[in-house]
Amino acid sequence: MFEDLQALAPDPILGLMADFRADTNHRKVDLGVGIYKDADGNTPVLESVKAAEAYLLQRQSSKAYIGPAGNPEFNHLLQSLLLGEGHPVVSSGRAVSIQMPGGCGALRAGAELIKRARPGATLWVSDPTWANHIPLLGSAGLKIVTYPYYSVEQSAIRFEAMLQALEQTDPGDVVLLHGCCHNPCGADLDPGQWEKVAELLQRRKVLPFIDVAYQGFGEGLDADVAGLRLLAQRLGEVLVASSCSKNFGLYRERAGGLTVIGETRAQVAAVHSQVCNIVRSLWSMPPDHGAAVVATILGSENLRSQWQYELARMRDRINVVRAQLVDGLTMAGAGEFGFIARQRGMFSFLGLAPDQVEQLRRQFSIYMVDSSRINVAGISAENCEYVCDAIASVCR
Ligand code: LMR
Repeated sequence: MFEDLQALAPDPILGLMADFRADTNHRKVDLGVGIYKDADGNTPVLESVKAAEAYLLQRQSSKAYIGPAGNPEFNHLLQSLLLGEGHPVVSSGRAVSIQMPGGCGALRAGAELIKRARPGATLWVSDPTWANHIPLLGSAGLKIVTYPYYSVEQSAIRFEAMLQALEQTDPGDVVLLHGCCHNPCGADLDPGQWEKVAELLQRRKVLPFIDVAYQGFGEGLDADVAGLRLLAQRLGEVLVASSCSKNFGLYRERAGGLTVIGETRAQVAAVHSQVCNIVRSLWSMPPDHGAAVVATILGSENLRSQWQYELARMRDRINVVRAQLVDGLTMAGAGEFGFIARQRGMFSFLGLAPDQVEQLRRQFSIYMVDSSRINVAGISAENCEYVCDAIASVCR
């Protein structure tokens, strides 16, 4: 049966975790996988999460199946977090949210839904995009093409080129957008650009599929989804994949959701039944724990404000580190990296060639994705100078 299967190369992002762990250099620095790290390089469980877990341990009375749509309380609260309590699509019952095993589960189920609704649709993804987008969405059998998004040479969004490419979309196509904290480049659309994208998608009758993996890591919980809320207001149909991995620090618990906005309540009810059927055929039902934790936090005034405080601390640290990194690189003579301080979320491209990335790994035990995407949260007061000097030395 298995004799013809060949071993595959490690995943371009997750493979770095194993290489990093195996490295015995005590100065090693992990700027690879997108996990938040505090000033000591740890990824602790949030206090609000621990409190919610303690509460659940006491109160949870059953582990019986929860069903393909997951936890209704979680679905409701997640939807409000994304769209806001008073958003017209929420009050008019035109949105449905379904718990998913992380953002990946939401992306995959969303792709399956598109495939069922419009099998010939082309899915447009940004160039560059997260390394797992194309494998995840493509495995549902969708045709995928890219639109220009970011120039590493100019450290800027290629907005005119993006619009030009999206003018080639056909009605019924789907455009994948990063809601905030673009992974891998950290460069987000500004409010005026979101307006222009909304106008284009509406005019060309194209469905936006918005990946919201970092809500709260950029400018704030509401500001980070302003683009999404605008599209939800302007367009009849929107698809959203959202994740609680980063903003609740629940990575391994796999908590996320797929939110679908439709033209009518009846359409949304049909979509709900289709998504539940898709879920049943993929993983039957989502894991409970992470979503139960999120529902407990968002449903309690105290825990919610504690969580918001913890989230703000993570966000602030990322933005402080961005500024420190720019200063450090300037002092080390590495070149012009001011763009890092203007970008948001955990990622930025350094703009290094693969051989420079390899040299950083081999000579200095500094790990980043081959594209030179770094997780800025991996920088600390302790390693900043070491990292900056190493980058300067490979740039010379
Ligand atoms: C990343 O981009 O590093 C994270 O989203 C983790 C992952 O699964 O790739």
